[in-house]
Order: sequence, then structure tokens, then C-alpha cells
Amino acid sequence: MKHRKLGELEVSSIGMGCMGFSHGYGEVPQEKESIRLIHKAYDLGCSLFDTAEAYGPYINEELVGKAVKPFRDKIILTTKFAPVFLDNQEIPEGKLSRKGIENALNDSLKRLQTDYIDIYYQHRVPENSNVEEVATIMGDFIKMGKIRGWGQSQSNIEQIKKAHNITPLTAIQSEYSIMERMFEKDVIPLCNELNIGFVAFSPMASGFLSGKYSKDTKYSGDDVRRVITRFNPENVEKNQELLNLLKNIADKKNISTAQLCLAWMLHKYNFVVPIPGMRSDERILENLSASDIELSKDEFNSIEDGLKNIIIYGNRTDEDISKLGTVRSY
Ligand SMILES: NC(=O)c1ccc[n+]([C@@H]2O[C@H](COP(=O)([O-])OP(=O)(O)OC[C@H]3O[C@@H](n4cnc5c(N)ncnc54)[C@H](OP(=O)(O)O)[C@@H]3O)[C@@H](O)[C@H]2O)c1
Repeated sequence: MKHRKLGELEVSSIGMGCMGFSHGYGEVPQEKESIRLIHKAYDLGCSLFDTAEAYGPYINEELVGKAVKPFRDKIILTTKFAPVFLDNQEIPEGKLSRKGIENALNDSLKRLQTDYIDIYYQHRVPENSNVEEVATIMGDFIKMGKIRGWGQSQSNIEQIKKAHNITPLTAIQSEYSIMERMFEKDVIPLCNELNIGFVAFSPMASGFLSGKYSKDTKYSGDDVRRVITRFNPENVEKNQELLNLLKNIADKKNISTAQLCLAWMLHKYNFVVPIPGMRSDERILENLSASDIELSKDEFNSIEDGLKNIIIYGNRTDEDISKLGTVRSY
């Protein structure tokens, strides 16, 4: 397992997104099994584990806290505060007030059974919210030793610049994959310029890029693939052209398309760290071992050149996910 830096924090070059152990992808494993899988990732060298208060809400942090307890001080543990109230959080000052965030942080620390968070993210940054005030509060948490660094999720370059000026950001965590490259045009170059790490969520485009899901695959419960347009049967069919491109290159290297997609982003930027969600021994091994896969210049260029001629159909938006009828849309 190779390593890289998110700001000043060293992490395995591929982390584990823990959300799916509690929600977002339908039926979840038993707690004992989830803990075993998290331990498996750690044993294979993974040292970055991501959760959020909104996942469940709350139960994912409890699960992750329990799972990482034996090796808490050897990993980078990241969680997030939602910009809106979750169950039983209402206070008159508002969620993004000092008291609102402090309450959320203290509760996350309890659930995670730890006295510090390595990277504490603002889960969404609403258009009209006071970015500077949140950045000041984060700076105070860092001085108090409650968090080591902080970040934002799905923010734009203006929000990043404003925040970074007040309290330097450790990482931005936003959607990034071979299917969703919108942040390549501004946010990722800005992170490079400002020495901010970039954590790629949904790096497998919710599994699509593995090529293991077809237009006939059925999703149930709170699985976001019931509502995101990337998984409309007609879009799944139209996006086969992308999978064919990737499969051709992956087959020649004797690797899977999932591994190729992870290797592609690791090759492209040395400050990007993907955090795939994975709930089986095979997927954990498959995804984490992509850390050691090197792409030649020709292989990388054939992906980039191929992508220029391919249209991507559908995406994954909070708006679509909210149709599931829960606040667990991110
Ligand atoms: N900041 C945010 O707003 C935000 C939003 C979404 C997610 N996140 C974070 O990012 C993490 C990853 O996001 P994600 O779960 O959407 O990522 P993802 O890896 O793109 O999608 C996960 C889905 O892909 C499947 N998958 C992964 N690797 C596979 C492989 N090699 N072969 C076949 N299927 C594979 C998983 O299967 P199984 O799990 O069923 O094995 C799961 O169904 C989350 O866990 C969470 O921590 C953050």
C-alpha cells in the first residue's frame, strides 16, 4: 500500500468509505460483519476511514468508532457535520452557529469513542452561509486539539478561498471519478495550488465503473441507485461505451475496470485520495490493491484521449437523492 499526503496528514493512497455499512446502498451487513470488513481493510494497509453524523444518522459513526477502536491512533479518522439539523439537534442558535457545530462535534467524538477527529468536514456549504465564521470556529477547534484539520464537501472555489484564508483547509471531499470530472476545471487545480488534499467520494461512480451492474440490476430500500440518473436503465446502456473503453485497457493489463479507474486518478494527481465504498472481502482486496498499480504514459493517455470522444449520461445529485425521502442524501 502506497501513501500520500492530505495537507500535512499522511494516509494510505486509497481509503475506505464507510457510509454503505449503514446506509445509501440498500441492505446493510450485520454489525459483526461490517467490523470484520473494516478490520480487513486496516490489515491490508488502509489507514483512512470516512464517516459522517448524517449517515444513519449517527449509527454509522457508532459502528466506525467501535470498529477502529483497537487501532484508532494509527489511522486517519474523518467525519462530517451536516449544515442542517439532524434528529434531536435543534437549538435556537442554528446548526452552523458555534454552539450548533460544537454540539455536533462533541456528539461525534462520543459516538466515535475518541477525543479528536483527524479531518472534520463541513458536509455541504450552503450558498448563503457564513464561510468565514465556520472557518474561525474550525481554527478554534484545532487550537483546542479537538480536530487536527478540517475540510469542506462539494464546495466551490470562492468558498474554498474564503475559508482557506481564515483557517487553512486540510482537504476537500467531493465527488470525483472517471464519470464525474466537473471539479477538474477549477477545484482540483486550486487544491493543488493551495496544498489542500482532495478526497474523491464515489470514485467508482456508485459501482457503475466496476462494470458489474447492468440495466436490469434492481436496487431496494435507501439505495441511491434507485433515484440517481446515472443508473437509469437507458443511461446504463448508453454508458456502455465508456465501460468498453476502460475494459479494453484494463484487459490488456490484466486488471479490473474498478482498479483501472482508481489507478487513473492516483496517476493523474498526487494529492487525490479515493475512498471507495466496499462491503466484501473481494472488493476490498481488489480496490485497495489498485494502490500499487502503475499506469504507463501511453495507458494514461489512451484513457484521457478516449474520454474526449465519450459523452457521459446521467449523474448523481443531492436533488435526485432527496427523492428517497430522507435527509441522508449526502
Ligand atoms: N461527502 C459526501 O457528500 C459524500 C457523498 C457520498 C459518499 N461519501 C463518502 O464516500 C464514500 C464512497 O462513496 P460511494 O460509496 O458512493 O463510492 P463508490 O465506491 O463509488 O460506490 C460504492 C458502491 O460501489 C460498489 N463497488 C465498489 N467497488 C466495487 C468493485 N470493485 N466491484 C464492484 N462493485 C464495487 C460498492 O459495492 P458494495 O459496497 O456493495 O460492496 C457500492 O455498491 C462513502 O462511503 C462515504 O464515506 C461522501
